[in-house]
Amino acid sequence: MPSIEVTGLSKTYKVYKKQEGLKGSIKALFHREYEDVEAVKNISFSISQGELIGFIGPNGAGKTTTLKILSGLLVPTSGSARVLGFTPHERKEAYLKQISLVMGQKNQLFWDLPAIETFNLNRDIYEIPKERFNEVLDDLTEMLDVGDILHQQVRKLSLGQRMKCELISALLHTPKVLFLDEPTIGLDVVAQKNLRQFIKQYNEKYNATIILTSHYMDDVKELAERVIVINDGVLGYDGDMDNLVKKYAKNKIIRLNFEHEVSKEKLEQFGDVTDFHALKATVEVPREDIKEVASKILKELPVEDLDIAEVPVEDIIRQIFENHTVLE
Ligand SMILES: Nc1ncnc2c1ncn2[C@@H]1O[C@H](COP(=O)(O)OP(=O)(O)OP(=O)(O)O)[C@@H](O)[C@H]1O
Ligand SMILES: [Mg+2]
Repeated sequence: MPSIEVTGLSKTYKVYKKQEGLKGSIKALFHREYEDVEAVKNISFSISQGELIGFIGPNGAGKTTTLKILSGLLVPTSGSARVLGFTPHERKEAYLKQISLVMGQKNQLFWDLPAIETFNLNRDIYEIPKERFNEVLDDLTEMLDVGDILHQQVRKLSLGQRMKCELISALLHTPKVLFLDEPTIGLDVVAQKNLRQFIKQYNEKYNATIILTSHYMDDVKELAERVIVINDGVLGYDGDMDNLVKKYAKNKIIRLNFEHEVSKEKLEQFGDVTDFHALKATVEVPREDIKEVASKILKELPVEDLDIAEVPVEDIIRQIFENHTVLE
């Protein structure tokens, strides 16, 4: 049985349409008009236990909506979601005890209390045996390197420290499925890296299924082998990160170091020059021409070093989103 099974899932929000002016407001008292926002349109995917999935898409794509459905906070308009054999929105206790949702923008810890107090409360709510609780808490604390801050008032913690505590709080009951909605948002590069490391470690150690959304492509690149792309509510791609690049990047890049200076005009004969310095340059070339162009460059220019690479994933994904390319 897959850990998560989503079939033809859709979610439409009914939004109250604001009417113009006083007349409109009065009219609205008697007759409210609603507008449909189709946030998620007929998406399907299946995820096995222990997988770590990157769930990506531009703003408003439907990521948070999907995660809210999967964690039982929203009822789908149509289609079905099954997680660990449960229907999430039924919110069965046995289900809620096996999952967790962490939202980078939301605070679940008590602001005025030390984090440890929230942890203890969770111990009671989730009925975690004391020994197990201590064992997991010690483990998570060590993995996140936060021993000394658990007794400080949450309001006095840095954003990174707080996020670590949020994660501990969400993981004390060792959920089998974890939904992470932009857990690294707003963190500095070092804190992002630490958190990434932790997510990976947790996934491996506890064999948890994890769906992660992030606008930072580094998160997704480093953590997820498989990505699901959603765009305007429609599922666009589901598969390997590497294949996404191969499939949608029309170009490859040639990075060059020269022995002596080469003019930009000269270089432009070979492709699209995307970066240019006296002794260093980058040229973008159609994938199918890459061999030919590379050997031509080697023959005609004073090349010291040449290196062929894929276009950065960020760029490809940005292109896909900007062009509203229909993916297959
Ligand atoms: N409670 C709501 N009521 C009405 N419309 C909503 C509600 N929540 C989200 N939407 C709309 O549904 C669509 C999908 O929103 P969602 O929050 O799922 O996107 P997202 O992919 O998480 O975006 P982001 O990357 O900005 O977090 C958007 O058009 C949004 O405006
Ligand atoms: Mg969101």
